[in-house]
Amino acid sequence: MKQKLLFARAYEKEAAKMIPNDARPLFHLTPYTGWMNDPNGFSFYQGKFHMFYQYNPYDTVWDAMHWGHAVSTDLLHWEYLPAALAPDKPYDDYGCFSGSAIELDDGKQLLLYTGVRREGGEGENLDVQTQCIAIGDGLNYRKITQNPVLDETDLPDGCERANFRDPKIWREKDGSFRCVVGTCDESGFGKLLLFCSANGIEWNFESILVENDGRLGLMWECPDFFELDGKAVVLVSPQDMLPKCFEYHNGNGTVCLIGAFDGQTKTFTPERDHSVDYGIDFYAPTTLLAPDGRRIMIGWMQNWDTTKLTGRKDRRWFGQMTLPRELSIRNGRLFQQPIRELEQYRSNCVRYENVRIEGDTHLDGVTGRTVDLELTIRPDRSTVMYHSFAIRFMQNEQFYTELSYRPYESLLRIDRKFSGSRRAYIHQRRCYVPPRNGEIKLRLILDRFSAEVFINDGEQTMTATVLTELSANDISFHADGGIMMNVTKYDLCVKE
Ligand code: FRU
Repeated sequence: MKQKLLFARAYEKEAAKMIPNDARPLFHLTPYTGWMNDPNGFSFYQGKFHMFYQYNPYDTVWDAMHWGHAVSTDLLHWEYLPAALAPDKPYDDYGCFSGSAIELDDGKQLLLYTGVRREGGEGENLDVQTQCIAIGDGLNYRKITQNPVLDETDLPDGCERANFRDPKIWREKDGSFRCVVGTCDESGFGKLLLFCSANGIEWNFESILVENDGRLGLMWECPDFFELDGKAVVLVSPQDMLPKCFEYHNGNGTVCLIGAFDGQTKTFTPERDHSVDYGIDFYAPTTLLAPDGRRIMIGWMQNWDTTKLTGRKDRRWFGQMTLPRELSIRNGRLFQQPIRELEQYRSNCVRYENVRIEGDTHLDGVTGRTVDLELTIRPDRSTVMYHSFAIRFMQNEQFYTELSYRPYESLLRIDRKFSGSRRAYIHQRRCYVPPRNGEIKLRLILDRFSAEVFINDGEQTMTATVLTELSANDISFHADGGIMMNVTKYDLCVKE
């Protein structure tokens, strides 16, 4: 094994000992130590879910991308394995960027990732991005001698070799391999390229699957492509998006394109698009098809523009993954639900039906920092609309984070301005949520340092990291005007 990887493995093992369990989320994956960005190689292999991730073990900032590695049987308890890849070859010495994983016929696991090398001097940004392979047994991986397996000579005219990354691999029913890779043309607009292979090693260009018409940001990162509920779906994370009404407020955010795939031309025609998440922290998700047929998505629970929002100075990890989410397509939209495995860890149920609230209220037993909370909110008299409703959580005398709703505007807002940050980073997002039969339904999942909101059975989600000190664990309710509310609260007792 190469020196760089051995060194990283020895380093991370020691450094991780300095991170107490309760300094991490209870059931969201964080880096073994140091920095994490995109989820990579999300797969089911040899009876376990594997998650790799963009990883810098040596610091809590982005640098020298390795692949970190963890496994799980329920997607909630994660066991760290030693780092899988280090940037130790001439073709990837600037970083082993994002990619994916697949099982080969001989039972080995193949990792397909972007190897980056940098030509020229400092500041010239002459990156050369190529697709590379490492093959292994679920623990150790060897980079193959044929690397890189896709390079600039495989690019259609006008595509940039400096932006050619993030392959997502899958197998067709006939056993052959496909992958979709992000790139962009000289004007900077993203394209997704489809490649095919009979053995997973030798690849050929097949088609331009779909192109950015200029409406959705610039370069397209971390693509995924799959069929779900009879529709073809592309998930992609464009850089530098312009907001459009209530869509695409995150600059770098994730888009869901729902449409049709033409098997003859190998092209995808989008029919609809919308944001995958309307909160602050969500990017670069990837999916897997679980053995039981569920399409499960995990994203990086972070926003590139707020990576300096790190909370305590002595925190030795940065970056979290979202909760794994089950996907479906309903009414032309992507619906997301927390994976059902979470339900087995619910305990201490507290339930209130038809509680009337006006002003500020605490509800007995509704408190906590690792909770699963379901709320249904409606006006107390159908003829009079309330002005606003809010739930505050991760709260103490000094701090709170708030989810508030104004029915006159149909706007749901998450606001972490008072969560303890001393900087003017992005702390708010709004989401357009028209009431259904006068009601809105929310499911809020808190896990120490994050809040994930599933709106109206997962039709929309809002995700935010919240780094408030752990002692802030109160929850309170506020209504301007009268509301009626149903509340069900569970503690999430996922053992450490
Ligand atoms: C997305 C991304 C990818 C790239 C990786 C590098 O967050 O920019 O396109 O592969 O991060 O760490």
